[in-house]
Amino acid sequence: MEKRGEPGGAAPHGCGAPRTPRKNRCRRQRPQPYRRAVNTTDDHFGERVAAAYDDAEAEMFHPDAVGPAVDLLAGLAAGGRALELGIGTGRLALPLARRGVPVHGIDLSRAMVTRLRAKPGGEAIGVTVGDFATTRVDGEFTVAYLVFNTIMNLTTQAAQVACFRNAAAHLAPGGRFVVEVMVPELRKLPPGQNAVPFHASATRWAFDVYDVATQAMSSNYVDVDGGRGDYRSIPFRYVWPSELDLMAELAGMRLSGRWDGWTREPFTSESSRHVSVWEKPA
Ligand SMILES: C[S@@+](CC[C@H](N)C(=O)[O-])C[C@H]1O[C@@H](n2cnc3c(N)ncnc32)[C@H](O)[C@@H]1O
Repeated sequence: MEKRGEPGGAAPHGCGAPRTPRKNRCRRQRPQPYRRAVNTTDDHFGERVAAAYDDAEAEMFHPDAVGPAVDLLAGLAAGGRALELGIGTGRLALPLARRGVPVHGIDLSRAMVTRLRAKPGGEAIGVTVGDFATTRVDGEFTVAYLVFNTIMNLTTQAAQVACFRNAAAHLAPGGRFVVEVMVPELRKLPPGQNAVPFHASATRWAFDVYDVATQAMSSNYVDVDGGRGDYRSIPFRYVWPSELDLMAELAGMRLSGRWDGWTREPFTSESSRHVSVWEKPA
């Protein structure tokens, strides 16, 4: 699975620098509301990425990948509305809408949304352009979902917490928030190494870089064409299942299911990703 993302979020706070006067040391920081540091509309999902997205992610568009996700989401929608955070080109939103579930999406990238609009049924799906950590849309939803590692596109803990709060604010009582995300691959890092390669071929080298002190990571790609390499790097913040549970709790939700995949396989210590569902109390 290839990972993509965008930068954003507020700077982290710290305290206790040795030369700080005593009265200022460890002063309690007032929580700052999350705001995007970079106010761009497309970030890493501009025209070039959007134009190639469906082909580049062909495996994720295969019915074997889409079908089980849509089945689970349609079941959780239970006759109500669905909200997709990071709707993209409509990989899940369009088939979910065809199942009769009214879907609304939020996305920062006009280029991705233009691709969604151009597809059959795309015009009928409501989309709000904005940051899914903070953007509000009208009405209540029975399910909100954020798939394909997209929670990691929020590169600070504050932004990820804001996203959980935003999802919860859109849910009706009893509504569910679903996240699909990888388990960080730190077990693949021997001491002293910070990179995990995930693709090597004549035309592409790709590797993740981890900073275990900050949970910053990036996915890095070198595309080779005619002997020349084109490098791009996409920033992420990796996040553990247990940390997501705390974010859900801060947002007033509790875990109702965690699986290895969309067909509810058990989540184990060998799972490389999880599909997790949190419920807003009825
Ligand atoms: C990996 S794509 C996933 C698209 C779609 N959900 C899918 O499964 O194919 C991530 C999408 O999230 C959007 N995105 C990333 N960060 C965002 C943010 N903070 N607010 C809104 N959209 C964001 C990108 O523009 C992109 O369309």
